[in-house]
Parts: sequence; C-alpha cells; structure tokens
Amino acid sequence: ERNGLEFAVADLGLADFGRKEIRLAEHEMPGLMALRREYAEARPLHGARIAGSLHMTVQTAVLIETLTALGADVRWVSCNIFSTQDHAAAATVVGPTGTPEAPAGVPVFAWKGETLEEYWWCTEQLFAFRDENGAVVGPNMILDDGGDATLLVHKGVEFEKTGVVPTVDDEDLTVSDEYRIILDTLRRSLAADGQYWTRVASDIRGVTEETTTGVHRLYQLAEQELLLFPAINVNDSVTKSKFDNKYGIRHSLIDGLNRGTDVLIGGKVAVVAGYGDVGKGSAEALAGQGARVIVSEVDPICALQALLEGYQVARLEDVIGQADIVITTTGNKDIVTVDLMKKMKHQAILGNVGHFDNEIDMAGLARIPGIKKINIKPQVDEWIFPDGRTMIVLSEGRLMNLGNATGHPSFVMSNSFANQTIAQIELFTKHEEYEKDVYRLPKILDEKVARIHVQALGGELTKLSKDQAEYIGVDVEGPFKPEHYRY
Ligand code: NAI
Repeated sequence: ERNGLEFAVADLGLADFGRKEIRLAEHEMPGLMALRREYAEARPLHGARIAGSLHMTVQTAVLIETLTALGADVRWVSCNIFSTQDHAAAATVVGPTGTPEAPAGVPVFAWKGETLEEYWWCTEQLFAFRDENGAVVGPNMILDDGGDATLLVHKGVEFEKTGVVPTVDDEDLTVSDEYRIILDTLRRSLAADGQYWTRVASDIRGVTEETTTGVHRLYQLAEQELLLFPAINVNDSVTKSKFDNKYGIRHSLIDGLNRGTDVLIGGKVAVVAGYGDVGKGSAEALAGQGARVIVSEVDPICALQALLEGYQVARLEDVIGQADIVITTTGNKDIVTVDLMKKMKHQAILGNVGHFDNEIDMAGLARIPGIKKINIKPQVDEWIFPDGRTMIVLSEGRLMNLGNATGHPSFVMSNSFANQTIAQIELFTKHEEYEKDVYRLPKILDEKVARIHVQALGGELTKLSKDQAEYIGVDVEGPFKPEHYRY
C-alpha cells in the first residue's frame, strides 16, 4: 500500500515506460477512445466496482482507464501467470496523474512469472474493494477472461452452502495442483467467514466474459442452473472472436515463436491442433511464413475448411513425428500427450495458445523417468528425453503468445475491449432486465464497434438506398445481417 492505494506489481519504477506505451496504444485503440468521448459526461459506470481478471498488458491498461473514465472503481489481476507486462501494470497503478512515490491509479495485483499460489492470492485480492470509509466491500461487476474470477465466487458459494471444502487425496493424479490451491484458498476463507463468498455473489450484477473457454464454463453453469448472476458472452460478438481470436493470433503467435526461439519458420512442418478461430489465424500465420501446415480437427466442417485453404488434415498421432513446430489451439484437454511427445523430432518446438495449459500434458512430461529440463531463458525450456532427443516447450504449455511475446496488438484488442466496455455498461445499468443466463450483445452494437474501426483504417462504407434496403429486407442503418449469419 502506498498513498492509500493497495497493489502488488513488480516495480513501480517501470511506470514511465509503461505510460509511454499506453499513450501509443491509445492512438491504436480508436474503439475505446470513441467510447471515452461518447460517455465522458454521462459516466454510466459511476458506482460500478469492477473486478477485472484479464492479461495485464498495455492494451488492458487502456481498457482499465476507459472503465475508470466512465466512472468505475476498478481492481485488476492477470488471468495468466506469465502474461503480465510489468511496465503496463506499474503505469496502471501509478495512473496518468500520479508518481511512483504517490500512485493515483488502480489497484493491480499482477506480475510476470507468478507462482500458482501467488496467482490465486492475487485473484482473492480482486474481491476486496474499499468503500469511502476504508471498509472492505465486494465488487458489483466481474470482467473475466477464462472464468477464473467467476469460478472462485461460484466454488466459494457452493462450499459455503454445505459448509465443507472437499479434501482431495494427494495420490489422486486426476486432480491438478492448481485445483488443490483453489480448494486451499477456499478452505481458509471458509474458516475465517462462512458467508464471505455468498455475500460477494449477492452484490454482483453480472459478469462479462472475454474468451471461448470462459464462455464454455458459463454455459455449463447456466445449463445446470448454477449461474449466480447474468453473464454477457463478449467472445461471440463477431467483432471479438472473428477478429481477436483470428487476426490477433495471426500476429502474436509468430511474435511468440520468434522471441522464444528465433527459428526460421519457412520450410518447416507446422502442425496446428484445432481449426476454429484461433486455429485459422495460427495456420494462416505459419503458412504466411512459408511453413507447410498440417491441421488436426474433430469437426468435419472445420476440417473441410482447412482442406479448402490448402492444408493437409491428419491425425496428430500420424504426423507429429514430422513436425518441427506443434501448436495447440483447441481449448480442449489432453491434446499432446506424453506418448505423442515421445514421437517428436529432435529439438521440435511445442507451444499452446488455447486458454489453459491442460492441452499439453506438462505434468506427465515431468514424470517421465530420466527426463531432464534445461531452462534456456524465461518461458523457454528444453526438455531432454532419456534417449538424448530434446523438445523445446514454450511458456510451460501456457498461452505462449502472451508468455513469450506481448499478446495481440492494440488495434485488434480495441475491438474486443470496446465490446467489453459496452457489455459492462449494459449489465451494470440494466441488470434487472437480465436473468441468470448467458447473453450476447445485439448485432447493432457489433456493427457500431466495427464501424469505428473501419473509419480508423480509412475504409469508406457504401450506403444502402432505401429501395435497396427494402429489397434485401434490412434497415438502411443496419443491422445488415440476420442473427444466424456466420460471417
Ligand atoms: P473454437 O471453438 O472456435 O475452436 C476450437 C477448435 O478445436 C474447434 O474447431 C474444435 O472442433 C477443435 N477441437 C476440439 N477438440 C479437438 C481435438 N481433440 N483435436 C483437434 N481439434 C479439436 O475456439 P477458439 O475461439 O478458436 O478458441 C480456442 C482456444 O483459444 C480457447 O481456449 C480460447 O479461450 C483460446 N483463445 C486464446 C487466445 C490467445 O490469445 N492465445 C485468443 C482467443 C482465444
């Protein structure tokens, strides 16, 4: 705590550098800056206490300062142990008007290279806002990426109902170390205050969720009628998933490979597991560098798309032995198993850009008898198999585009975060119009976000005549497509 502001970041001395990059990013984030102008007077988030769990990058700093410009009180953590940019975290704490000695920004609890214990400690701090008198009060909104903040509240409430946190057998290998840490966290909070999470949850008006994996979790909760508050699925705004997931990864996957390894991608065989939005961007980026790309898919529609783009479609187990680079993008678990790793070429590169690290069996890798690990540099490890072959693993199997590089660039995140901001305003101001269910933003707002970015890039939109609009059955001002249109 300094100047009455709580925080936990690597080094406030990095704030000046962070501020300079934030200033450059603001120009590249026209969607967020347009919302700041539009809502400068109305300040629709006045009274909102937003608990944000999303990669603490330069782009996220611009989002945070947009939320505060709209009136919100904000606390922030990263949703990944490696994704924080320490200068961005420092600048967000210091704020545009503060100094490292007298920070005047936002409480951020995030640094690059957290342990899992530290990660969940940070996530706990997210919920401890202060009122005017300094008393602890919970958030009334969550902004989540991957659903960890939402998960903590839901698990907390679940265990408070029964009054017990399950203990898990140490020998039970199906329970991850991370889940044990979550259970320990909740066991401590249950011992201190048996109604803490129940009270936190009752204040929350809603959550807006950034990514595919977090959205899956929300739909599962809603289906089981366990969702505690309304949710907006930001991921499935067209201007989010069809841009951030695809064009964002097209940029940041290559950035991560280059910064992590600097191998020439051209001429190599790259296998991409999963050909959804993230897989499409990954395959295009690798092919763009001259790699021969092979895709693995379970869904025949996505597999057919990959074939028609000119990629080979094959099963991972049949082609992994040819691969120089293997990238997982499925959002599913157990994609690259230890058996598959054993088939990989000497010094092949293995990285994941799906949300969680369970796509690659890192725990199984560490358990191979005789296996050794050499750390080359932060977030780059060379694993040596007993037969002497090695494999390079990026970011310990976690999002390597954020761990080895700086994630997606500002312009594409401006689209995602404009949707986030609009979703926060919507749920905060109109929460009583929503049930405990998962919603998407209306298409007209999606088109609004796109329009701002078209203008910023100098694109000129054609205007429909009234006659033409009637002929195709839409309004002159949009929306231009029916709900079922797939883009
Ligand atoms: P998606 O649902 O569009 O694509 C995933 C694809 O993987 C689907 O086509 C599915 O059929 C396929 N798949 C599932 N199991 C498979 C298996 N066993 N083998 C081969 N293919 C399989 O999802 P999207 O939007 O592409 O997201 C994927 C993951 O990336 C999610 O975890 C998401 O949260 C994350 N994400 C990461 C970003 C980053 O910056 N690294 C950005 C955006 C999303």
